[in-house]
Amino acid sequence: MDNYNSKYYEPLEQMMAIRHQYMSKILRDHSGQDIYEFFKNKKVLDIGCGTGEFLNNYCGMGAKCLGIDIENNFKSKKKMNFKLINMEANKFLKNCKKKFDVVFLFEFLEHLEEGDKHQLFENLSKNLNRNSYIFISTLNKNLLSKYFAIDIAENILKLLPKKTHDFNLFLSPNKLETICRKYNLNLVNVKGIQYNPILKSFKLSKIDLVNYFGTLKY
Ligand SMILES: C[S@@+](CC[C@H](N)C(=O)[O-])C[C@H]1O[C@@H](n2cnc3c(N)ncnc32)[C@H](O)[C@@H]1O
Repeated sequence: MDNYNSKYYEPLEQMMAIRHQYMSKILRDHSGQDIYEFFKNKKVLDIGCGTGEFLNNYCGMGAKCLGIDIENNFKSKKKMNFKLINMEANKFLKNCKKKFDVVFLFEFLEHLEEGDKHQLFENLSKNLNRNSYIFISTLNKNLLSKYFAIDIAENILKLLPKKTHDFNLFLSPNKLETICRKYNLNLVNVKGIQYNPILKSFKLSKIDLVNYFGTLKY
């Protein structure tokens, strides 16, 4: 590990269960399959994979998993069908010859400049198999998301290190849809995420004004 910051990565581990719950529902609704059936033998790419711990769960379900991160904070060890690469995402994708069935972009897009977001989806559209899914979670762009994600989470409750987020990089579902449509990626679902700071847990919500999940299909 280069410069592992537990304050940065540990709150993300609290999101694992809700991500799994969200993907289970989408896969049941769109493919008719149970998530454990679905992931068997699928090629999965986790971009901005952090420690690699979330991706590791899907290797355990029989998927072939590859994680990419610009920082080396990997906790999980390499093993059969599970590899983590320390590289910038677009640099990796530009030279990548593999195609994937599932891509995770969890808490990642809010760290990219707009030009890099376009580049990412253009690159991804060339690296996807037909009927693939991109699962996203990110921060909406409005005064409420600025207040909760920066003022409250970073400055008041100190749940995250200061300057984790840059409001300019936040992304509304409408903007996400506009960017992705250019690259034939269809936004088929958006769902809000609600955080309870006392229980330190997340749940799905009708309100998508702060943090939200999105699913793209190719
Ligand atoms: C908020 S963390 C999310 C980690 C993981 N997806 C999760 O939710 O647990 C964002 C991650 O994206 C990585 N990252 C940021 N910009 C990147 C880039 N251009 N290419 C690859 N990784 C990047 C960071 O190093 C960090 O590990």
